[in-house]
Amino acid sequence: MKRAGLSVGLTVFVAGAAGQPTGVVNSPHNLSAGGPGTIRAVSESEVCIFCHAPHNASPVQPLWNRAMPVDGYTVYASRSLDALPGQPTGTSKMCLSCHDGTIALGNVISRDSPILMAGGVTTLPEGHGRIGTDLRDDHPISFRFDSALVSKDAKLRSPGSLPAAVHLDSNSELQCTTCHDAHNNANSKFLVMRNENSQLCTSCHQMGTTTVAAHNTCSACHQPHSAPSGPYLLKRANISDTCLSCHDGNTPRAANIANELRKVNAHDTHSTVDPNGNAAEHTSCASCHDPHTMSSGSGTATAVHPNFGRITGTNGSGAPVAAASAEYEVCFKCHADSSNLQPIVGRRITQNNTRLEFEPGAVSFHPVMTQGRNSEVPSLKAPWTTTSVMYCSHCHASETSRRFGGVGPSGTHGSNFPGLLAARYETTDRISESASVYDLCYKCHDRTNILNDRSFPEHKKHIVDKRTPCSACHDAHGIASSQGSATGNSNLINFATNIVFPDRRTGRLEFRDTGRFQGECYLTCHGVDHSPKRYPD
Ligand code: HEC
Ligand code: HEC
Ligand code: HEC
Ligand code: HEC
Ligand code: HEC
Ligand code: HEC
Ligand code: HEC
Ligand code: HEC
Ligand code: HEC
Ligand code: HEC
Ligand code: HEC
Repeated sequence: MKRAGLSVGLTVFVAGAAGQPTGVVNSPHNLSAGGPGTIRAVSESEVCIFCHAPHNASPVQPLWNRAMPVDGYTVYASRSLDALPGQPTGTSKMCLSCHDGTIALGNVISRDSPILMAGGVTTLPEGHGRIGTDLRDDHPISFRFDSALVSKDAKLRSPGSLPAAVHLDSNSELQCTTCHDAHNNANSKFLVMRNENSQLCTSCHQMGTTTVAAHNTCSACHQPHSAPSGPYLLKRANISDTCLSCHDGNTPRAANIANELRKVNAHDTHSTVDPNGNAAEHTSCASCHDPHTMSSGSGTATAVHPNFGRITGTNGSGAPVAAASAEYEVCFKCHADSSNLQPIVGRRITQNNTRLEFEPGAVSFHPVMTQGRNSEVPSLKAPWTTTSVMYCSHCHASETSRRFGGVGPSGTHGSNFPGLLAARYETTDRISESASVYDLCYKCHDRTNILNDRSFPEHKKHIVDKRTPCSACHDAHGIASSQGSATGNSNLINFATNIVFPDRRTGRLEFRDTGRFQGECYLTCHGVDHSPKRYPD
């Protein structure tokens, strides 16, 4: 029944279709007066006539009976697209001769006057599969899907291995008819094969695997037509809203992230899809979670979270990587060399690049990229030791995060504490010490141990008696090798410049590490000159 002998073919087809409930006759494409759908002719009884006529049709095969729409479509485009969709060609134009909504359904070439449709319908009404002439929100069509394209996009399967039902046209182009068969509605929506498990989509796309059951179908996030996002065909206007359509507290088992984002301090994830310019400035859920490969389960601080999946990053040397191997590499995309956030606490040594603060060569640092330099940290609580490694998200997470015993979702989404911190950490001067005021530090450093002066013999005097915040003396991140020194900035010492000032006598603002639990300071604080003050005294 292929192209040869079209009149014969049509006749045979009519016969076949009549005996076959799944053919055109029993489908919404039967637009005759006797058709099963809501869109029908007033009195026309022929079924094929809306699309084909054995005589007086157009020269377009197969005996096409409709005017073909003229070019003027806006075609699909996105930054990641490798294919080159042009104006619709081939059979896609046939479908669009009704589905773009510009040509009346009853306008057929073989009749002098249009076939009248019931209810005064002329062109395909909105909401009835009218996909319009703006195809930016529809799956791309009318481009060659060949090995050259596959070589540019490793996430495509070879067109040579398509299932028999899924076929390209004679020019190797992907058309509407690659996914749809206008004559057969057995799989509903005239699909060439069923798609309830995304088997149609995955016959061409291999996006990687996920263990998150709810993410297992493409339709969890995508829709092939009239997609609200345009580029990437997402079912909401942007990535975040797509994810939050489930992660908003209304879908069982899906962590409520919408609630996190409403907190005082949050990552603004509402970037437009497919933005121009520096991706680092456009935060979305997909900045940290790869939509297709994120999995459930927890990882270790030295490996990337399973629920980040295969996500891009910036490594410890500042180079982009296709697949981050640790959480910090994901954060470094935006908070390292390209960082433009002002420090929350102004310090003697200013550094916006967290990569330089945490790198293994740094003077002193919390152990994010590698284990720390200090082998004597008596305040550490189990399971923390001087060989531990931690995530940025140990400190930067929801204050209700499960990681510190809460019941809320973990992750760097939002927090009711400034600095997107996982627990309270006051940085204002003259604040009365309590377990809660420095809760963040006390999660890992034993409060009693610190206040018993096991390392710095003046801890209690400063913290409790003089009401000085930890942040007056300590930098919570680290001190870059090019800016500090092993004697001047051990123990994360980097004074806050709104509390600690140069010594009025010597003009110096300095710490000097002079040995194990020994040191001296040159500075003025709370009106007291240290010129210097030494410990132990
Ligand atoms: C809603 C539009 C529509 C209706 C109604 C319709 N067809 Fe088609 N038909 C098409 C399109 C589009 C093609 C081209 C598809 C392709 O080549 O894959 C086509 C192709 C064909 C072909 C060529 C087959 C091939 O694979 O090349 C035959 C034969 C055919 N139709 C017969 C019929 C018969 C008989 C009827 C009436 C029972 C009918 N069609 C009704 C749209 C329609
Ligand atoms: C003669 C006009 C016409 C042509 C040509 C046409 N369609 Fe349709 N199509 C319709 C109408 C009318 C409906 C029914 C809409 C409704 O009732 O909501 C429809 C419905 C559909 C549906 C939805 C079916 C459902 O169960 O909801 C799909 C999918 C579809 N068409 C795809 C195609 C494809 C693909 C082509 C080209 C191969 C095509 N159509 C060609 C008129 C046409
Ligand atoms: C890559 C595969 C693919 C291509 C190409 C494709 N479609 Fe679809 N289309 C689908 C799937 C899958 C559905 C069913 C969506 C659902 O069930 O929600 C669908 C649904 C539809 C519907 C039903 C209405 C709707 O929005 O769900 C119409 C009409 C339609 N397609 C027409 C077309 C036309 C016309 C073309 C060519 C311009 C085309 N399709 C190209 C996969 C495709
Ligand atoms: C017959 C093969 C085929 C089928 C079936 C198919 N696609 Fe595609 N799709 C492609 C090709 C080829 C591209 C172009 C890829 C590129 O240029 O990198 C594409 C592009 C896309 C894009 C846009 C990619 C971008 O970079 O902007 C999305 C989103 C998409 N497909 C989703 C789907 C979904 C969802 C389904 C199932 C409803 C589906 N596809 C079914 C072949 C297919
Ligand atoms: C959990 C939501 C989700 C699921 C499920 C999902 N996607 Fe996506 N997809 C996205 C988001 C979000 C983007 C945009 C990514 C970006 O901007 O980084 C995207 C982008 C894409 C792209 C274009 C970019 C690329 O990586 O090539 C294609 C193609 C695509 N998806 C196909 C699919 C297919 C096919 C399936 C089913 C096998 C699927 N997606 C399942 C959310 C999802
Ligand atoms: C259709 C609803 C739905 C959509 C859309 C959706 N999710 Fe989910 N997601 C869930 C459900 C339900 C679970 C948990 C249960 C499970 O394993 O299926 C989950 C689990 C997750 C997990 C794993 C948690 C863990 O560690 O076990 C992450 C991460 C996640 N989603 C992020 C996202 C992101 C990012 C997006 C958007 C790109 C998204 N989700 C879109 C429903 C959804
Ligand atoms: C795609 C870019 C991007 C990535 C990736 C990213 N961030 Fe951010 N981050 C931002 C932006 C932009 C802000 C400023 C607030 C806003 O507008 O979202 C911010 C704010 C913050 C803040 C609050 C700063 C303040 O001044 O209150 C912290 C803390 C933070 N991010 C930590 C992290 C951590 C930890 C990671 C890795 C898990 C990370 N970020 C990954 C872009 C990013
Ligand atoms: C030990 C806890 C801790 C760890 C680990 C940590 N931070 Fe912070 N971070 C803080 C605190 C506390 C602040 C608040 C300002 C201060 O005290 O200097 C902060 C501030 C920030 C800010 C705001 C700008 C600034 O410098 O004040 C950003 C952005 C940030 N951190 C990102 C990160 C990234 C990215 C990582 C991992 C590479 C990370 N943090 C690891 C505790 C931590
Ligand atoms: C700045 C990076 C970043 C962004 C942006 C981000 N996340 Fe996360 N997300 C994380 C981190 C870190 C975790 C915790 C990972 C771990 O410990 O396993 C996480 C965990 C999750 C979890 C699992 C929570 C749990 O405890 O079960 C879900 C679900 C999730 N994110 C969804 C989202 C959604 C939806 C968005 C967009 C609205 C988003 N994330 C944006 C960093 C991010
Ligand atoms: C998630 C656990 C954790 C949190 C929260 C935490 N620390 Fe630490 N801290 C560590 C570990 C582990 C080390 C050991 C590093 C080493 O051996 O060099 C350490 C070391 C230190 C050191 C010694 C560093 C050096 O290089 O000499 C200081 C000072 C310190 N922390 C202060 C703080 C302050 C202040 C806070 C609150 C903002 C805090 N820590 C929060 C785990 C934590
Ligand atoms: C007045 C300055 C100052 C303040 C305020 C201060 N520290 Fe320290 N801290 C030091 C000095 C100096 C050392 C180094 C002692 C040594 O090893 O010589 C130190 C060492 C540490 C160490 C590493 C050794 C150990 O005890 O485990 C930790 C952890 C620490 N401080 C935590 C804190 C916390 C938490 C706070 C606030 C509750 C705080 N510090 C407030 C000056 C200060």
